[in-house]
Order: sequence, then C-alpha cells, then structure tokens
Amino acid sequence: MRSKTGFVSGEELAKKLNFSRTAVWKHIKTLRQNGYSIEAIPSKGYRLTCVPDVILPDDVRKGLKTSVIGRKLHLLPETGSTNTLAASMAREGADEGTVVIAELQTGGKGRLGRTWTSPPGNLYLSVVLRPDIPPYKAPLITLMGAVAVASTIREQLKLRAGIKWPNDIYFAGKKMGGILTEMSAEPDRIHHVVLGIGIDVNMDLNELPAEIRRMSTTLAVETGGKIDRTALLRQLLSELDRWYAKFLENETSVLAEWRKLDITLGSRVSVAFGPGAVMEGIADDLDQEGRLVLRLKDGTLRTVAAGDVTIQKGAGDR
Ligand code: BTN
Repeated sequence: MRSKTGFVSGEELAKKLNFSRTAVWKHIKTLRQNGYSIEAIPSKGYRLTCVPDVILPDDVRKGLKTSVIGRKLHLLPETGSTNTLAASMAREGADEGTVVIAELQTGGKGRLGRTWTSPPGNLYLSVVLRPDIPPYKAPLITLMGAVAVASTIREQLKLRAGIKWPNDIYFAGKKMGGILTEMSAEPDRIHHVVLGIGIDVNMDLNELPAEIRRMSTTLAVETGGKIDRTALLRQLLSELDRWYAKFLENETSVLAEWRKLDITLGSRVSVAFGPGAVMEGIADDLDQEGRLVLRLKDGTLRTVAAGDVTIQKGAGDR
C-alpha cells in the first residue's frame, strides 16, 4: 500500500481499512493528537514522518501473554506517584495484577523517604499484588521485583544489569532503576502490596539533579540508542508474571536467582540506617527473608532488614 515516497492516498487507506474517507481523516487527527507526525498533501495522500515515544495500551496488550500481571492496565500521561495511585485503587478493590503506568510523575517516591525524579522517557509503573503470605515475608516481593527487572534488561537488551541489595538496578557501577514496595497489612495478613518500579530508559540525564546524575545512567546511554519502551515494558510484565508465579509456589525460590544477579555479596560495604548511623562490614549472604547478613570487622554476623548500602569499590546511589 506504501508508495516509494511513503505516501498513501486517503482513498487507498479507506479501502484497505474499510473506513469512510471522513473516518480516515478523524483517525489521522487522533494519531496527530497522540504525537504522531503525519504529513498530508492533497495530491499524494498521507505520510508518517515521526512515531512518538509514547506507550499506548493497545500496543502493550498486543502479544502480551501474562496470566496475572497486567490483566488490567492503566496508562496515564502523568500522575503524582503511580504507587500512591495504585494503592488507592487497591483500597477500592483493584484486582491482583492491576498495573498503573505513567509517562511522568510529579511526586515520584523513592526508598527511605526520598523523591524519585521522574521526567518523561523512562518507565514508571506500579503493580497491585495480593499474596496470601505472612507480612514478614513481604520483603521477598521486593527482591522478586528486582530479579524481574534485571532479567528483563539482560534478556531484552543484552546488558548485564545487576542488583545491589536489596533492589537497586545497576550497570557498570551506576544506578539505572529502583523498586519501592509499599504494603497494607494486619499483623498476620496482607491486604495488598504495591510493587513500584522505576527504570531509567531514554531520559536526558541532565533532567536529574547534579549530585544524582553522576551516579546514574540510562539504558539508552548504555546501549548507545533509543530504546523501545513498549517492548521493554511488555518483557517486564512477562518477567514479573513468571517470577510472581514462582514466588507464590515457593517464596524463597527467588533467592537463588537474586544471588546470581547480585553485585553486593562478597564486597566490603557500608550500610546507612539514618543520619550518622552507619555499619561497615563484608556483605556475607542473604537470609531466608531476604535480609542482608553482614560480617563485621570482629567476625560477628549482623542481620540488616533495611538500609542504604554503599559498595566500597565505587558503586553509588541515586
Ligand atoms: C528507589 O529509591 O530506588 C526506589 C525508586 C522507585 C521508583 C518507582 S517509579 C514508579 C513507582 N512510583 C513511585 O512513586 N515510586 C516507584
């Protein structure tokens, strides 16, 4: 249907799509509103000149073969935080596997009360989960999310992404993604978990504050070209689906995979628990609940449930 010049006449389009000429024109208008650049010359027809870097729900659903994750997809041009929105949907009964994605966040949240700078061009998503597990096992869901993200990057882009405990995604000593898990629970029962994932994909690194920029990278920078975010998202949803199913079968099954992708264990690290509260040692292992086991200078072992790890040989944090 395409001519050598790339133009297709309105008549041809109408015939092929079984639309009226007016319907073709209306669709062209909608595509333009969605960021597509379409040239229109009366004697030649229409020509697509630029496909926008936007994620469209139908494109994501095309070929998506997940059974739980992404059964419901909400895509927004912008929101405060996808985690906050997903949590409020969860409180109102959203199904397990509901995914909220935003092109940008105006109030993105990071771990330990930080903000997550969220300009356009990246992936920002939150998944509603309702696992039937005791709340103390919930940190394993965060590790599961990190395994899914690192596996996605390795599979889709052939970049050897690694995980810094508990769930920072690293490549070549720089951070390219993070995970924030938030939970609503009673002492012995989880209402819901919101698994929030941010991956730095195509953004301009200059969008980040200077002190964060020097420790961060993006998939586009590391691969040397713009990334198809829709394909990446689709792969991520399948990896999440696969790993969540494994997790529900056996919660500790993700630990073995996490260890394979980890860049922390065996290194000298310092763990910050708050202003001025730092512990140093060798990252020895993970326990069955995903906590970090630290070997201190005097040989004693300490278990750490949360904190900010710095690997002494140069890895940074966002
Ligand atoms: C970290 O500090 O490393 C965790 C960052 C998590 C960011 C993601 S982006 C999507 C979701 N919504 C948020 O507000 N935060 C998470």
